[in-house]
Amino acid sequence: MKIPARIAPSILACNLARLSDECTAALGAGGDFVHFDIMDNAFVPNLTFGAPVLKSLRDDGFSGFVDVHLMTNDVDRLVEDCAAAGANSITIHYEATNHIHRALTKIQDLGCEVGLAINIATPLDAIEFVLDDLDMLLVMTINPGFGGQSLIPAALPKIERAKKLIDSRGLNVHVQVDGGVKVSNIRTIADAGADTFVVGSEFFSASNYAERCAEFRAKLA
Ligand code: DX5
Ligand code: ZN
Repeated sequence: MKIPARIAPSILACNLARLSDECTAALGAGGDFVHFDIMDNAFVPNLTFGAPVLKSLRDDGFSGFVDVHLMTNDVDRLVEDCAAAGANSITIHYEATNHIHRALTKIQDLGCEVGLAINIATPLDAIEFVLDDLDMLLVMTINPGFGGQSLIPAALPKIERAKKLIDSRGLNVHVQVDGGVKVSNIRTIADAGADTFVVGSEFFSASNYAERCAEFRAKLA
């Protein structure tokens, strides 16, 4: 099933001192939703921000759709905090969570869309039995932790297989990619089967976000 492409600016790469304005600008420029990278300096070797920052963003009046990408261990309490702070969608990592099915169910019970991320070395078989419970499967295209890395080519055949598996079951699960997505490679990634594209450094390094977003979309047309 062909799903319309979605562009998700990753605010990890924005001017965080102006977070609310940057989120508004990113969606005003044509981004479909905000990708909000929470890192804990344990699951990944970097530390960013947490649910209180999302709450401040909401308190400041930002009402756009926010997908939280939780790159953390111990997600059980954090998913509650993120939902309470105003997340619309929460994506957790297969590798960081002992009881995946329980955590996914909790995200759904909290009223959020359900996302599951798999790192480069994690086989698709690992998530076969929870695929039906997802709104989105995130196939990582880098090792998580930092923006500005290059896409790891091994992810491409995995995207292809993921899309085939989803289609073979007739599911309406988005295939998202995160890391190293550029104007120069987005078409190749889309052809592999991805429909949702996280864009960090390539998006926010542009002097004109709308022009950059149009460049991405032109490649997907
Ligand atoms: C990194 C984050 C990404 C990051 C992508 O672990 O999950 O969302 O912002 O940045 P780019 O697009 O620069 O690779
Ligand atoms: Zn991310």
